[in-house]
Amino acid sequence: MHDFRIKNGRLCCEGVALETLARTYGTPLYVYSQHTITDHYRKLDRALGGLPGHLVCFAMKANSNLAVVRLLANLGSGFDIVSGGELYRVAQAGGDPRRCVFAGVGKTETEIRYALEQDIYSFNVESAPEIERIHRVAQSLGRRAPIAIRVNPNVEAHTHAKITTGTYENKFGVAIEDVEAVYARAAKLPGIRIRGVQMHIGSQITSAGPFVKAVKKALPLVKKLQSLYDMEFFSIGGGIGICHDPALESATPAWWRRAPKARAWLTPRRYADQLVPLLAPLGLRILIEPGRFIVGNAGALLTQVQFVKSTPEKTFVIVDAGMNDLIRPAFYDSYHQIVPLRKTRGTLVADVVGPICESGDYFAKDRRLAAVGEGDYLALLSAGAYGMAMASNYNSRPFAAEVLVNGTRHAVVRARQTRSHLVRGESVAEWLKK
Ligand code: LLP
Repeated sequence: MHDFRIKNGRLCCEGVALETLARTYGTPLYVYSQHTITDHYRKLDRALGGLPGHLVCFAMKANSNLAVVRLLANLGSGFDIVSGGELYRVAQAGGDPRRCVFAGVGKTETEIRYALEQDIYSFNVESAPEIERIHRVAQSLGRRAPIAIRVNPNVEAHTHAKITTGTYENKFGVAIEDVEAVYARAAKLPGIRIRGVQMHIGSQITSAGPFVKAVKKALPLVKKLQSLYDMEFFSIGGGIGICHDPALESATPAWWRRAPKARAWLTPRRYADQLVPLLAPLGLRILIEPGRFIVGNAGALLTQVQFVKSTPEKTFVIVDAGMNDLIRPAFYDSYHQIVPLRKTRGTLVADVVGPICESGDYFAKDRRLAAVGEGDYLALLSAGAYGMAMASNYNSRPFAAEVLVNGTRHAVVRARQTRSHLVRGESVAEWLKK
């Protein structure tokens, strides 16, 4: 569930009308609900109550805004990081690096050194050569690096091809057949301390089946590793999918109900009911690394209609947000509900497109929308995960601003970039100056 609801004909985030935010801060504007993030984190954390010592490590690649990271750190979250930059953000936000796990297939020496200095909980190692590199860096610092090897269980997660990670087609992790040999090598290296084992099969997974399949496949290996090494944790990764909120649809006029029906929700309860009985007997500390589930439905991207343009073929609703602000529809054909910030009469069928010079710059195709016109505001829902985090300055468009809502309070948690930000750090080579 989330806190974007219609009250008195206005779409609100918690106690604030989104139109007020759009007018106050301008558009494009990302808006996040503190209550939704808190609620999602707590529901997952509670559902795992049967696993003593478990740790929810928020995958901050989904949303790394300092305020979001701080909010989750305050709730007790750990973090799944994937770069030195993300670790820096944890530190800047006041989070605890000792609750961080560091994934990624290409960790550089500089990143490894920084992570060791910050005393992270574990490196989630993605290849045999990476272990050698971590060992070398740890030794040069007189340290032992805590590691877990990421097992690729070769399980199909039935999700979009660009976000599946748990099969041998992907670059991630070590093939399940090879994992024991890589641990055996790691155990011989004085700069390495084996701490756990990790797995992540993909993203936007909307049923428990693929998780259960992957865990069942990994269990014999995990038990064997427990008998051989001093294992402390098993991370089963992230990937819990989100669905569009049917409650919001039923609270709206007919055009709103025509959005595709949500597939079955994978609630924290259902996820835990299936997985906790498999995991509890291990007696290991269980980690999960959810990103999208916690922040996806907690965010919306507000945008203003610039023009409505008709061709003999189509109607285009041209808005002031572009694929540089939210790339998911262009990249994954992802669906985001698009709703007006105030009640309107009538509908139209249109492509909702941005101002960027690419045909891929669209948010929806042939979508039945509220009949909007120039100057009206729209919200793209479910934009809290992989929205701002994947934004770029393409077409020299400044980054949107971000606002956090808490009840009736709201605060800018990232200022809108100005034109001067766009050229910061760039210069004209001396020889070009005449
Ligand atoms: N752990 C690892 C090792 C990961 O690679 C990921 C996501 C997660 C956890 C968190 O997955 P989540 O719970 O958010 O599904 N940009 C794509 C999603 C890419 C996910 C990459 N890895 C999108 O917009 O759908």
